[in-house]
Amino acid sequence: MKIAVITGGGSGLGSVFLNTIRQRYPDLDEYWIIDIQEEKMKEAAGDDKRIRPVVMNLADSSAFSDLDKKLKEADADIRVLINNAGVETVAFFEDAPEQKLLNTVRVNAEGVMHIDKVCVPYMHEGSIIIHTASIYAFSPVPGDAVYAASKAFVRSLSLALHEELKDKGIKVLVLSPGSMRTPMDRSDIRKKGISMPFLDMKEVADGALDAAEQGKESFVPTFYYRMYTLWCKLFPSSYTARKIGKNYQK
Ligand SMILES: NC(=O)c1ccc[n+]([C@@H]2O[C@H](COP(=O)([O-])OP(=O)(O)OC[C@H]3O[C@@H](n4cnc5c(N)ncnc54)[C@H](OP(=O)(O)O)[C@@H]3O)[C@@H](O)[C@H]2O)c1
Repeated sequence: MKIAVITGGGSGLGSVFLNTIRQRYPDLDEYWIIDIQEEKMKEAAGDDKRIRPVVMNLADSSAFSDLDKKLKEADADIRVLINNAGVETVAFFEDAPEQKLLNTVRVNAEGVMHIDKVCVPYMHEGSIIIHTASIYAFSPVPGDAVYAASKAFVRSLSLALHEELKDKGIKVLVLSPGSMRTPMDRSDIRKKGISMPFLDMKEVADGALDAAEQGKESFVPTFYYRMYTLWCKLFPSSYTARKIGKNYQK
């Protein structure tokens, strides 16, 4: 059975990816969405019987064997994997509850790694993996330290897998978006500094899928954010961290 798998598919960018993938790849047998809340997924699926909601807590490492079982039973051929779910705790490290920080690492880093580990064996020549990182993957971010560190993990993992899976013809891309209007948007907390422009999520999803199909390893949407990430690459991380940290205040 030819399928797409989208984590965080019940909300925000994930639900935009879901609709974009349904339009771009209408011949797939099913579109699996993975999320923690069943109701949200049912809402995103509407009455399309080809959308299969898979309730899963990506922070729970024991949940992945069940996903493997479901893929095996379905004789799955994963054509597209959008490894996208994530959480953010915007707070200074000392103020943030440890459980929230731990959950950020578990969902954003371990969860992404587990999903890849389970799904890659079900992928073949021409299959696509998109990892949703963030522009925060390019520099440490005082005020959002653990989230930024988790996204640096995603970017590094993705760029390495791009090379490792090339021989199998599996195309791996890291998507690094800037601000998007989703339930995750915390732009009100960033009180100082330059406000970041919001992205059109349909353009983000289409741009990432175009780039992945072309075999590119990375996609940063819009000129503005490409300049931001270039700035992060040109200067030492200690300098960019200091500058970016000025956007956060207690
Ligand atoms: N919004 C931005 O400005 C922005 C910028 C750069 C990068 N990103 C990245 O974009 C991706 C999508 O985020 P979004 O902005 O679309 O936010 P979102 O609407 O909150 O989507 C995140 C999704 O991840 C799911 N999720 C969270 N914890 C989970 C868990 N333990 N198990 C399973 N699913 C879980 C959420 O489910 P529930 O809602 O049911 O909890 C939700 O569906 C994330 O990786 C985020 O880091 C976002």
